[in-house]
Amino acid sequence: MPTHIVAKMGDIADVVLLPGDPLRAKFIAENLLTDAVQYNSVRNMLGYTGIYRGNRISVQGTGMGAPSISIYANELFNEFGVRRAIRVGTAGTIQPYIKIRDLVIAMAASTDSGINNIRFGGRDYAPTATFTLLKSAYEIASAKGWKPFAGPIVSSDMFYTENPDEWKLWAKFGCLAIEMECAELYTLAAKYNREALGILTISDSLIDKTATTPEERETAFTRMIEIALETAIS
Ligand code: HPA
Repeated sequence: MPTHIVAKMGDIADVVLLPGDPLRAKFIAENLLTDAVQYNSVRNMLGYTGIYRGNRISVQGTGMGAPSISIYANELFNEFGVRRAIRVGTAGTIQPYIKIRDLVIAMAASTDSGINNIRFGGRDYAPTATFTLLKSAYEIASAKGWKPFAGPIVSSDMFYTENPDEWKLWAKFGCLAIEMECAELYTLAAKYNREALGILTISDSLIDKTATTPEERETAFTRMIEIALETAIS
């Protein structure tokens, strides 16, 4: 019996968009889906199912960080049979050529989280996106002229790190951006043999400490959702 998503079997589509912020789930449902019905409100972690271009799609808030997305992804995959999950979120750039508002498609997710360390008993698992989804998202964004970056990212457990230069090590090893959820989503998708992808917009820069304005975030967010919805039904 799922405890964090209280819905009936069949209430959730087999394709789900996953924003961290539940109010973004509400925004997507109300503005980009038709006939949206809310199926979850437990802990205000809102979830909706509606129609996008004739396809049934759900959108579920996950909260921030690996432990939170772990709960929702586990229930979606294991209890509700979700087949395809696409995270839509924000990330901080750690490469000078990637600027705020840019789009990053997360090919692989390294992490400083303890979760996979515990899960794999100290062995080093490599959480990876589903190739076909990555390819679709890249092609859809490119066709719209939005020049996405596709590459490895970092899923960190801490937004406020003790060492302010910690990101530099990840940058040196080719990671493009830092967020907090993809590694756990990718690992769970692999465990349950499902599809997963993270599509991210850059909201801030760890290099020069700049950040997007609310208006810029809104525009970049809408663009990312458009790509995610098209990828979801591809
Ligand atoms: N760090 C971690 N997660 C994030 C960041 C960041 O700088 N920006 C957006 N999500």
